[in-house]
Amino acid sequence: MISRRDWLRMAAGASAAFVVKGCGPSESGAAAAETSANAAGPTVAGASRALNLITRAVPSTGEQLPVVGLGGANTFSETAGEEDFETIGAVLQALVDGGGTVFDTAAGYGASEEVSGRVAQELGIADRMFWATKVNVAGRGGTSADPAAARAQIERSFERLRIPVIDLIQVHNMGDPPTQLGVLQELKDAGRIRYTGITTTSETQYEALEQVMREYPIDFIGIDYAVDNRVAEERILPLAQDRGIGVLVYLPFGRSRMWQRIGDRPVPEWAAEFDATTWAQLMLKFVIAHPAVTVATPGTSRPEHMLDNLAGGTGRLPTPEHIQRMIELVEALPSA
Ligand SMILES: NC(=O)c1ccc[n+]([C@@H]2O[C@H](COP(=O)([O-])OP(=O)(O)OC[C@H]3O[C@@H](n4cnc5c(N)ncnc54)[C@H](OP(=O)(O)O)[C@@H]3O)[C@@H](O)[C@H]2O)c1
Repeated sequence: MISRRDWLRMAAGASAAFVVKGCGPSESGAAAAETSANAAGPTVAGASRALNLITRAVPSTGEQLPVVGLGGANTFSETAGEEDFETIGAVLQALVDGGGTVFDTAAGYGASEEVSGRVAQELGIADRMFWATKVNVAGRGGTSADPAAARAQIERSFERLRIPVIDLIQVHNMGDPPTQLGVLQELKDAGRIRYTGITTTSETQYEALEQVMREYPIDFIGIDYAVDNRVAEERILPLAQDRGIGVLVYLPFGRSRMWQRIGDRPVPEWAAEFDATTWAQLMLKFVIAHPAVTVATPGTSRPEHMLDNLAGGTGRLPTPEHIQRMIELVEALPSA
């Protein structure tokens, strides 16, 4: 690991490692789905080459977003907490150079906001990212949030992220929705944030989530969804489609769960029929094949995994027959 001072020197002088070339999503939906995947496969060295990511429209505005982004919890926040600026910089640079934009973080993710905000500014890539963070001051039980404390936490997020407008702030883990969504709506009305939303990755909160989706004018939800965790398909994803709410998919690999279940098994050959060459791509293609999904944000602390994940947002998507085959394949794996 290098020190912050060393990293700053390196970032200032040696942009060779982080050359910023033209990138950005260049195709949308069906057209991209027909495009063959980047045949050579992504490499870190080739990170300056944007992949042809499929894009999806934010239902409330039509804004197109690349269908794979980056999650800032878990291993990413651990790396940020270690002040490994070089690695965080390489992951964020791979995100944007590879054609992704959406970065999902939270006030509650340790050093994730502070380090990503700082490093993105220093690399000059902050305005190429779609910044999604979260607020929650409701504490244990999550039923009562002080609006002044919520506003203060959000101001801290602005300071940490170092951007004048935050693209999306969501209420984290269903904490006091009336109070905290009210605060977010004020900020949206004032033009300081562009989108509002609410998140949970706990099935016990799904019913409360559905109620919020019916009663509040939110732009996004964030929800857990994976090939071996499909409960959201039953009611949440159809409701999101009905209500015109965008969906960020969390835990597409179930953190370490799917990696333990897969072990060292080879990727099935038939995954090539929908341009997946790695397990990460297979699992991401499973979630983004659902039409309710706007963006999947797998977490990573490794630039090569960032590029692998972005490649999961390119090329052909699985057919319903492939989806069924994936489910059967995963159901036959040992549990984690
Ligand atoms: N309630 C909420 O709002 C909520 C809850 C949970 C998560 N989230 C959001 O969702 C994001 C995703 O969840 P998560 O990060 O916890 O779990 P995840 O995306 O399901 O899995 C992350 C794990 O997969 C590994 N990984 C990533 N890409 C890989 C690849 N291509 N090949 C092999 N391994 C790979 C990562 O390790 P490496 O670092 O080694 O790549 C890490 O161990 C979070 O970061 C957060 O932004 C939100």
